[in-house]
Amino acid sequence: MIGRRRFLRDATVGTSAALLARYAGLRAAVPSDLARIDVTLDEPLGTISPNIYGHFAEHLGGVVYDGIWVGPNSQIPNIGGIRKSLVDAMQKIKAPVVRWPGGCFADSYDWKDGTGPAEKRPRRTNFWAGDGSVRELGNIPQKYDPNTFGTNEFAHFCKLCGCQPYLAANLRSLPAEDFYRWVEYCNSPAGSTTLADLRAADGSSDPFGVRYWGIGNESWGCGGNFTASEYAVEYRRFVEWVPRYGVPLAFVASGPDGADWNWTRQFLQTLTEKGAGAVGAVWGLSMHYYTSNLSRGKTQDWNQAKGDAVKFDPVDWYELLREGDRMESLITGHWQIMGEIDRNHHIKLVVDEWGPWYKAGSQVAPEHIFGQMITLRDAVMSAMTLDTFNRHPDKVAMANCAQLINCLNSLFLAHEEHFVVTPVYYVFQMYAAHQGAQAVRAVFESPSVHYTRDDKPATFWGLKGAASLHDKTLTISVVNPDVTQPRETEINLGEAKAVSGVATTLTDSDIHARNTIENPNAVKLQSKDFAASGSGVRYTFPPASVTLLQIALA
Ligand code: AHR
Repeated sequence: MIGRRRFLRDATVGTSAALLARYAGLRAAVPSDLARIDVTLDEPLGTISPNIYGHFAEHLGGVVYDGIWVGPNSQIPNIGGIRKSLVDAMQKIKAPVVRWPGGCFADSYDWKDGTGPAEKRPRRTNFWAGDGSVRELGNIPQKYDPNTFGTNEFAHFCKLCGCQPYLAANLRSLPAEDFYRWVEYCNSPAGSTTLADLRAADGSSDPFGVRYWGIGNESWGCGGNFTASEYAVEYRRFVEWVPRYGVPLAFVASGPDGADWNWTRQFLQTLTEKGAGAVGAVWGLSMHYYTSNLSRGKTQDWNQAKGDAVKFDPVDWYELLREGDRMESLITGHWQIMGEIDRNHHIKLVVDEWGPWYKAGSQVAPEHIFGQMITLRDAVMSAMTLDTFNRHPDKVAMANCAQLINCLNSLFLAHEEHFVVTPVYYVFQMYAAHQGAQAVRAVFESPSVHYTRDDKPATFWGLKGAASLHDKTLTISVVNPDVTQPRETEINLGEAKAVSGVATTLTDSDIHARNTIENPNAVKLQSKDFAASGSGVRYTFPPASVTLLQIALA
């Protein structure tokens, strides 16, 4: 399935050049090595949905079993079986939403297996049971799912963390009726239906009120191998009648893989062939984009193109950022196509799988399929990606980092009693300041980074980020991708006046820096006050860093 993942095609829709041209005439000349950020508070871009800071947890490797779920009888501190240290950490970053149970797993999952008394639940072969690293292992839950973590346990996890559940329905291998019944199990009022009684027996008489529902996953691949048109017909059928119980259900259609523009166009064309009103049945169009090809253009083979999670050179650092930077053109490119059919842009983008994906080998435990070590490089790429979402609040309604724990771009590594927060976690902690704030226009201008890529000179942008306003606090998140050079920057606030500033930074002198079970606090956030007064502020961003400036305005 993964081997058939299509590679990116033509991803060059950008806006930054036009914006720079627009602002070029407004500013005084600055020394050529000085960067500049122009923030225009009276140009709001939209409210940043907290849900773009969402997460994804699949029954895959060590995500659920060993990651989230340790079981109620474990010596590891837990709340009804859920790892307590994870819940505490999720609360700190104001985690808004978690997608579950997959991923590819979702389209082979029967939600009914995860209901009823835990000891009576069936064991089922996991979608990923044949994956290289677990194939040779015994009857472990990563291979034969005991279903002790079902809908009720997931809803409990979400409630403890203070976030919304986002469930992915099985479209490939179950009929639509099972989807309706799952909605009934989750949302029908206490005492109203047999499934509400089952939910109560499972531990929750109150309905979960699940709003977000994915209608299949990667329906172009593991989710049914459909054409976009075939899927659109299935989609229409699945969402035609779904019980509401007073919940404003938000359906997410399985969307494109990266730059598959044709999927977006074909899906929307077929969806609307019986009438344009069908766009009203889609709240979000999912898009998946993994930053996986670090071959510098030498191959498009899914496995061969991957890089190493921990052994890399500066050229590989920049390659990950270059590949990750394609996110912006994917958003604007799909948005443009969506607008050709959905002229009022009712449908928003939901980037419900994103992050770097490396070769296997750096996982904490062998059963952690796709588990990888998370370095400062991943944190910088994650910050860059979140800033891309911040800059498009009108287009991106939700995003889910893949995946929460013990997997790809994880915020946490956990094994048995060990629990570690990764550099990516700290980015989510810093960037929580943007959640629900008003995004404002910020134009970044900086000398480029120059480096050598396969014996040829190459460049990458020198500074980028996003700005938002909440009450009288201006938040500016900034990535300096240069592995050696700090970037002195003049920040122009226009008519606004700063009175004080706090800077929080994630960086390290070693670009490979990471938190491990042996050394869990190697990478940490650092905060300090900085001089901020008037409408012009200077700040020097350290090399290889993510910085969050919080400026109090008069
Ligand atoms: O996140 C791992 C897998 O990547 C998901 O199950 C699938 O949706 C994607 O191909």
